[in-house]
Amino acid sequence: MTLSRRRFIGAVGAGSTGLILPFAAGCDNAGHSDGAVQSGDVPLPARFSLPFKRPPVIQPTSSEGTTDYFDVRAFTTKAEILPGVQTEIFGYNGTFPGPTFSVRKGRTAVVRTRNDLPVPMVTHLHGGKTPAESDGYPTDYLLPTSGWTASAHTMHHAGMAMAGATAQGTRNYTYPNLQRASTLWYHDHRMDFTGPQVWRGLAGFYLVHDEEEDALPLPKGDRDVPVMIMDRAFNSDGSLAYPSIDPTLKTTPGVTGDAHNGMTGDVILVNGVPWPRFEVQGARYRLRLLNASNSRRYRVRLDPEPGSGDPFTLIGSDGGLLAQPQGMNSIYIVPGERFDVIVDFGRYAPGTKITMTNSLGDGSTAELMQFVVGAKAGDDTSVPARLSTLERLDPAKAVRTRSFTLARNSESGHYVYKINGYPFSTDRSWADIKRGDIEIWEFSSTTHHPIHLHLSPFQVYKRGGSTTLEPEDVGWKDTARLAPNQKLSVLVRFSDYTGKYVFHCHNLEHEDMAMMANFTVT
Ligand code: C2O
Ligand code: CU
Ligand code: CU
Repeated sequence: MTLSRRRFIGAVGAGSTGLILPFAAGCDNAGHSDGAVQSGDVPLPARFSLPFKRPPVIQPTSSEGTTDYFDVRAFTTKAEILPGVQTEIFGYNGTFPGPTFSVRKGRTAVVRTRNDLPVPMVTHLHGGKTPAESDGYPTDYLLPTSGWTASAHTMHHAGMAMAGATAQGTRNYTYPNLQRASTLWYHDHRMDFTGPQVWRGLAGFYLVHDEEEDALPLPKGDRDVPVMIMDRAFNSDGSLAYPSIDPTLKTTPGVTGDAHNGMTGDVILVNGVPWPRFEVQGARYRLRLLNASNSRRYRVRLDPEPGSGDPFTLIGSDGGLLAQPQGMNSIYIVPGERFDVIVDFGRYAPGTKITMTNSLGDGSTAELMQFVVGAKAGDDTSVPARLSTLERLDPAKAVRTRSFTLARNSESGHYVYKINGYPFSTDRSWADIKRGDIEIWEFSSTTHHPIHLHLSPFQVYKRGGSTTLEPEDVGWKDTARLAPNQKLSVLVRFSDYTGKYVFHCHNLEHEDMAMMANFTVT
């Protein structure tokens, strides 16, 4: 069985499913891949043939004082992702990805959300400092308007459904936006079903702006560009391929076959467009890179690189601006992470075609998108040597160190991903923390896991025992790469809100298979 002909052959061990999914067999339009699920016999566009697109920006429906009200409705619809092909998606306001929020620090956003999907949903603002009741705890379900009968969860989370604060039809999410300018995103977080629901389209940008950032001479407006990178695979009938045990997403969670390790596909989408082509002016652009993939990691590069200087100038990460810019040849980005970079296309001759590549990919996943450089344009932007002032959390002030080991176990016919030996349970707390405390959290594993903490941004303290930080690690983070056999220590201050929150692996299949844990701030 070759990679391009791989098939899913059911869950590990006991043949609980035995199904063979129809999308894997010999396809010749995707090139070789890296163990990814291959799209079926559906025409994929030539790379860089489709125009780059920005998701629509959502406007408030109304405003009152310092609060803006937004209306979002999630529903099943069709999108033309592949030219001439209709693909069923789960869309926020009907688009894939969902609309971009552009909010100001200090103005509260109330997102009135209506669930017209056939399944429960949960919205989480990733990177948001959000009160617990609006954070999208995995069992704080927003049930479908059409009604819902709780079905038995037959896998690892049996009996745990309906533990949270459940609403039906509509509910409000309130985001205070009392945080610095940053590139956040929102996505579905339904217990056990986050992987397939994000895969179907439930993800969007959420940009926080503030005066500090506005005052800097960085590229703005049309030259401030969200870039959501994700991989997908398509079935022969044009539907999104995802090997759910129950494709209706109503009963049994989980995936079949090798997707246990994390689902990857052979088609790269940038803002929902397969391998787009972006006509840029010869000027500086700010690219807000977001890895919204379920489990794929990328090392992003430019080909060709500019004749002089670094291809990228890194100016920000998950939690906003860095203290100073860093020149970078490549950006390593794991699921859930964001990196804001400046690329000066003015350094390329007009007409140059620059491919944004992924050196961790292979064949169709080794290329992400293309920039076509236009005429040199007026550009009064610059990247100041000092971007912001960053407080460094002091390890000497940490009141304790907690250690977390992430590992996969095979249990009675399926995999369970555990943190310190326990699969996620809504009523177990892995850490009880006093509000305001600084702690050191250490993570270890023998395999890759993007670690994500809700509520409290952190700073990388040590990686593999070294306090010399990699450029990707220097800013405020909410997600970080945990690499095999390389202990990751982070410093985190649990301020802001009290309550029960989760931290988890942001490989969404690992998360759905229980690699998640509660922490409680009191
Ligand atoms: Cu982006 Cu708890 O997730
Ligand atoms: Cu989050
Ligand atoms: Cu993981």
